[in-house]
Amino acid sequence: MTVDIKAVEGDHAAAEGKVSWQRFQVSYEFPVHFTRSLFDPQNPVFVETLTRLEPDKRHRCLVFIDDGVLTNRPDLKPAVIDYAKQYGDQIDLVSPPIPVPGGERIKNELFFTEDIQQRLVDHHIDRHSFVIVIGGGAVLDAVGLVAATTHRGVRLIRVPTTVLSQNDSGVGVKNGVNLQGIKNFIGTFAPPFAVLNDLDMIDDLPPREKIAGMAEAVKVALIRDSAFFTWLERHADNLVTFAPEAMAHMIRRCAELHMHQIGHGGDPFETGSARPLDFGHWSAHKLESLTHHHLRHGEAVAIGIALDARYSVMAGLLAEGQDVRICSLLEHLGFRLWHPALETTASDGMVAVIKGLKEFQEHLGGELTITLLDDIGVGVEVHEMDERMVLQAIAWLKSRAGA
Ligand SMILES: NC(=O)c1ccc[n+]([C@@H]2O[C@H](COP(=O)([O-])OP(=O)(O)OC[C@H]3O[C@@H](n4cnc5c(N)ncnc54)[C@H](O)[C@@H]3O)[C@@H](O)[C@H]2O)c1
Ligand SMILES: [Zn+2]
Repeated sequence: MTVDIKAVEGDHAAAEGKVSWQRFQVSYEFPVHFTRSLFDPQNPVFVETLTRLEPDKRHRCLVFIDDGVLTNRPDLKPAVIDYAKQYGDQIDLVSPPIPVPGGERIKNELFFTEDIQQRLVDHHIDRHSFVIVIGGGAVLDAVGLVAATTHRGVRLIRVPTTVLSQNDSGVGVKNGVNLQGIKNFIGTFAPPFAVLNDLDMIDDLPPREKIAGMAEAVKVALIRDSAFFTWLERHADNLVTFAPEAMAHMIRRCAELHMHQIGHGGDPFETGSARPLDFGHWSAHKLESLTHHHLRHGEAVAIGIALDARYSVMAGLLAEGQDVRICSLLEHLGFRLWHPALETTASDGMVAVIKGLKEFQEHLGGELTITLLDDIGVGVEVHEMDERMVLQAIAWLKSRAGA
């Protein structure tokens, strides 16, 4: 992280004699590596990352590992310990790696957040020590929150282990846990020290998880990069069989597009109402909760993309036929673009998913801002959605699915 502080003494204060303005800017930078066999002693990426700022120091490290990763890869714990021994002059592993619960349960119980925080206390982790978290998006979010808040922020190295966390959430700047049943109710914006994507980790994932993460690649291609969309179409056969080269390119390009949006989109800490990376997400978030998370996030996003693509055509933004093209790609990748929850009605008789619009607006704050498509690769913001047309788009999805 480089810090550039410019404090400007009150220009207005001089005029008014009452107000002093404080202004400064903080700029962030962190590397995102794409590698394989991260803890193979021959691979220098981890130790080089750790010693990037202080090459001559022995760095204190506390490692947390998603227990879902350990189930498939029990040798990871000894591998981390051996790696630390190999680079003993630089790495001080203050404890054997600590398993933590994988998936949403770690975010649903504050007990886990407190327990992780206790480990940082026990091992005297200070602002120059490192917390290393290896796991899916949920574990990254929970451990990330602990790292960001302990001593007001200790260094965090993320090692994402799912497609979604490698191509989307892991390269971002957010963390959080759930409270009172509200998703990500507590959290911070806190860029990590580094992100190390080990593509081998993806091999162990269940196929359903691998497919789910691809929805984010389709999403970001549709709003930002038509060439990537065409690439996804051409390589759908390879992606559906999880061919390593195709998976590696899909993950890397998707991660880069997310990084570009966060770094150059003008609002990394989301102070405005627009959230282009949440294309297709207003209905997806609602579908996730309506199905009690039976639908994985990416599965819900695929349906949300299909819905908003159809709506974009109906609204006269996207050319006729492009909605079918988008749906065909998603189906080719293995997504089902229909779920009965799309027709669930709320107690007031309204189709429940439409309430997702209001909830999306409340979550972002400010005026409703939904990203739709002007073309493949070109997102466009709108500030209202016609409920009748949303219902027609839902009916269209239903008839396509033959449901
Ligand atoms: N911070 C952000 O910007 C951001 C963005 C998007 C999503 N998220 C969050 O990410 C979470 C979803 O993350 P996810 O989709 O990565 O899934 P996940 O973290 O829920 O993990 C899914 C399951 O896979 C297991 N797992 C993880 N890696 C594995 C591996 N390599 N092999 C075998 N099993 C493995 C986990 O134990 C878990 O059971 C949600 O909580 C969501 O809110 C955060
Ligand atoms: Zn998403």
